[in-house]
Amino acid sequence: MNEAVAPPMGMLAELTHRCPLACPYCSNPLTLQQAANELDTTTWLRVLDEAAGLGVLQVHFSGGEPLVRTDLETLIAHAAKRGLYSNLITSGMTMTAARARALADAGLDHAQLSLQDTEAEGADYFAGSKHSLAKKQAAAAMLREAELPLTINAVMHRGNLAHLEAMIDMALALDAGRLEVAHVQYYGWALRNRAALMPTRAQIDVATEIVTAARARLSGRLVIDYVVPDYYASRPKACMGGWARRFFNVDPAGNVLPCHAAQTITSLHFDTVREKSLGDIWRNSAAFNQFRGTDWMPEPCQGCERREIDWGGCRCQALALTGDAAATDPACGLSPQHAMMHEIAVAEAAAPAPEFIYRRMR
Ligand code: SF4
Ligand code: FES
Repeated sequence: MNEAVAPPMGMLAELTHRCPLACPYCSNPLTLQQAANELDTTTWLRVLDEAAGLGVLQVHFSGGEPLVRTDLETLIAHAAKRGLYSNLITSGMTMTAARARALADAGLDHAQLSLQDTEAEGADYFAGSKHSLAKKQAAAAMLREAELPLTINAVMHRGNLAHLEAMIDMALALDAGRLEVAHVQYYGWALRNRAALMPTRAQIDVATEIVTAARARLSGRLVIDYVVPDYYASRPKACMGGWARRFFNVDPAGNVLPCHAAQTITSLHFDTVREKSLGDIWRNSAAFNQFRGTDWMPEPCQGCERREIDWGGCRCQALALTGDAAATDPACGLSPQHAMMHEIAVAEAAAPAPEFIYRRMR
């Protein structure tokens, strides 16, 4: 038993992959878990107990769309009982005033609502759905009426970056306290749709100026988080705060993953809460230990002063773009493959956008 491993801070509980939307940049894997494979309520209650026992502080209830689980309030109430801070990550599509109140009464601490665009037509096109913007605006009002703190999550790409100013205005109008301006990260469905989503460098530069100005203008009213796209970066992000350092995911079937895209690394075997405890998996799983810390790192990471800042970037992106999950993330300017990544971005952003491949369950 590896008792020396520090405890995780957060757990992403992916309760289901079922969802009324079909976003072409969904962070769920390409192979989605069917409803019949989902963990039952009793198992999720045990997982919450084990998470609290392991030292987890925050639980993010996510999906798919977690509102499709009729036991969501039960799970939130249990998390609250165990002292876990709870965040609901939702599309809001099926929210009702009664449900928002029930979630708040169960002890939910915070809600995070996705917006695809500020115009109805674009919102429906990017979500692969109908009437999505009006439903989301109504959901935001219901959550605020239930006195839940609200974050708007806006995933930005070549198709909606022109509406970034309007997105900031909409977050204010919806009485959000925080706005996440997140450029698409290219894993899973987004990687498949990369050519349809990739912005130009000029679009990114304008977005950065808009966010910088809005942060100054709205200080004290709206916090704006900003995720810069890897393809135009010179240093990688510390994906998940470093592999197996602070966070883990439990997918709808109970597989415990170091990140949402980890199953793309098919050489790794992932343990399940159906067979092992969370504590055992966190400390001893071969998949978690494979890229934990810095010993696994190749050069140039091994000798780099940033190796305990960005932890070598993202393993899933390294695999997707270099074929080697142990390679330096090509988002890093010191990676031998960095130029290739930039060339992909410039070429795809300059070409006409192809049709989306929507995320759908079979
Ligand atoms: Fe980070 Fe590795 Fe690049 Fe250094 S060489 S900045 S550790 S990705
Ligand atoms: Fe898997 Fe970054 S998404 S390590």
